[in-house]
Order: sequence, then C-alpha cells, then structure tokens
Amino acid sequence: MAKKIKRIKPKVFITRPIPQEGIDMFKALANVRLRKTDSWITRKELLAGVKDAEILLPILTDKIDAKVMDAAPKLKLIANYGAGFNNIDIDAATERGIMVTNTPGVLTDTTAELAMTLILTIARRVVETEGIMRAGKYPGWGPMMYIGSQVTGKTLGVIGLGHIGSRVAEIAYHGFGMNVIYYTHQVVRELESSLHARRVSLPTLLQQADFVTLHVPLNDSTHHMIGKKELNMMNKDAFLINTSRGPVIDEKALVVALRKKSIAGAALDVYENEPKMAPGLAKLNNAVLVPHIGSATKETRTAMAKLSGGNVLAYIQNKELPTLVNPDVLDRVKK
Ligand code: DGY
Repeated sequence: MAKKIKRIKPKVFITRPIPQEGIDMFKALANVRLRKTDSWITRKELLAGVKDAEILLPILTDKIDAKVMDAAPKLKLIANYGAGFNNIDIDAATERGIMVTNTPGVLTDTTAELAMTLILTIARRVVETEGIMRAGKYPGWGPMMYIGSQVTGKTLGVIGLGHIGSRVAEIAYHGFGMNVIYYTHQVVRELESSLHARRVSLPTLLQQADFVTLHVPLNDSTHHMIGKKELNMMNKDAFLINTSRGPVIDEKALVVALRKKSIAGAALDVYENEPKMAPGLAKLNNAVLVPHIGSATKETRTAMAKLSGGNVLAYIQNKELPTLVNPDVLDRVKK
C-alpha cells in the first residue's frame, strides 16, 4: 500500500491580533503563531518572530525590509493586512522569491465614507463647535456665529482616481452636486462621462478646487507631493483632506499654511510620522485630526482579515493568490 506523504504544516507568524475570521480560514492547515499583544511590534520582536516563518502576516505599519527578509530564510509569502504596501520593500521581496499580497477593494467604501466625513466635518466646523458645547461655552444662537463653508455645489479636486478616489468623486457628485476635477496620469473615461469629471494638471486642480482630497499610494513620486509650493497654489478658502498616506503631505509646511491661514483648513486621517504629529498641528482649530480610521469599521476590518487569510489559504493549497502585488516573482518562486 502506498504511503501517504504528510505535508508539514507551514509556519505562519501574525504580528498583531486581527479579526479571527481571517485566521480561521487557514488555522487547521498551518502552524500559527499569533503575537497576542495589541500594540506595534518592536523591531527586535519582528526579527525574532520571522526566523522560522514560511508565511508572514504583518499589519500595514510593520516595516518589512530586506533585513527582515534576510532574518527569515524560509519566508515565501508576506500577506499584508492593508491595501497600501509601502511598508514592504517589494523589490527586495521579489529578488528573494517572496510573494507579497495586500487587501485592496474591501476598504473602498469605508475609506471614501471617511473622506466625505472629513470634508463635511472641516467645512462645517463640527469638531471645533462640538468642543464649545462640551466646554459649556455656547452663549446661544447668533446669525454671525460659527459660520462654515457649504459643501453642496463646490468643486472637489481628487488627486489619484483609483478605487477610493473614484468612490469619493461619485458620492460628492451624486450626493452633494459637487463639480469634480481630478489629477491622475491617465484619463478615466467612465467618470468623465458619468460624473462630468475633468482631468486637469496638478497646479490647475490646486488653484480651482474648494476641497482637495488625496488618494494616491505612497511611493517616491508621491512623497511630499503637497509641500509649501503646492499649498501656496491653493485658494485661501480651500480645504485639504488626506486619507491616503501621511508622507504625501509635507506636514511641517502644512502647519505653516494653516497658521498663516493661507488655506482654510485641513482634515487628516494619516500623518507623516505616525503616530506622531508635526509640532503645532494639534493646537490648530482649522485642522480636524483623526487616528488613521479610514478602514476602521467592523465590516471592513473583517473583510481585510478574510482577504489576507484567503491569500494565506491559497498559498497553502498551492492555488493562485487572489491579490498578488509582485507578479514578477512567479518566475522565481519554487515551492
Ligand atoms: C490601508 O489598508 O492601506 C489603509 O490605510 C487602512 O486604513
């Protein structure tokens, strides 16, 4: 009788608790090591944790560079818990034959909702005036008090018209009758016809938009894409919204612009040196600041867990990975 060959269960290292539904997808087929502490992993713990892992499931703030990969000689898959993968050195992974996956798509609506929330919140001074109420400083209604900016009918400038940027544009157009202008490398024909959106240059967008919203990935070409020069191009009644990645904005230059009131305000979900903020930012009334909650709904965080878990499962079962970000690696992968 032929002997059954038992495959040794691959070791999976998960750097921080994620919704259980994702882990349940592969736990029977793997040897799972979950770091149970719900805080950012230290570099030392990360280097030790990956040592014998075949699969790494990190979160989007874990820096997975060549040094981490070299500390993990058996590593074959990095299943990032996050749509953005700027935390991973993709070239280093590809060179080493390591596949990388992410969690795109499932956070489109949630992040677009937050971008829209931030637009409304900063325009209508919601946080600032809520603070007045809580402090018991509201003296009663007055015609000239707490005047904000109307959103309906204004011009929205979308930088980066991928899934999330497109969804924000749709909500703004259909829900608030906003005019949409956008800046991307390529024309997005469907949105030009369905939303009457216009593709413009970056300077034109900055000069014409009442609300500038950022939806680009972080890479060398988008780092500090909005700095002093760009902020100076914006209208003094305009607002800047960022739900993408913090380093897309030169945060120190933004603090200067907000202090001088050369723009009306900014609403941020992400920061250049997260979790820190540039000095002075937290003191400004014309800034709304939330802690990277773009994807933070039960539905989306669960869907992200299932998508990263689905990638791990597909790898274990030797199937096509649902969201491989470095397909070039396939030439080098030997399983
Ligand atoms: C991502 O997945 O890239 C988002 O920033 C999470 O909020």
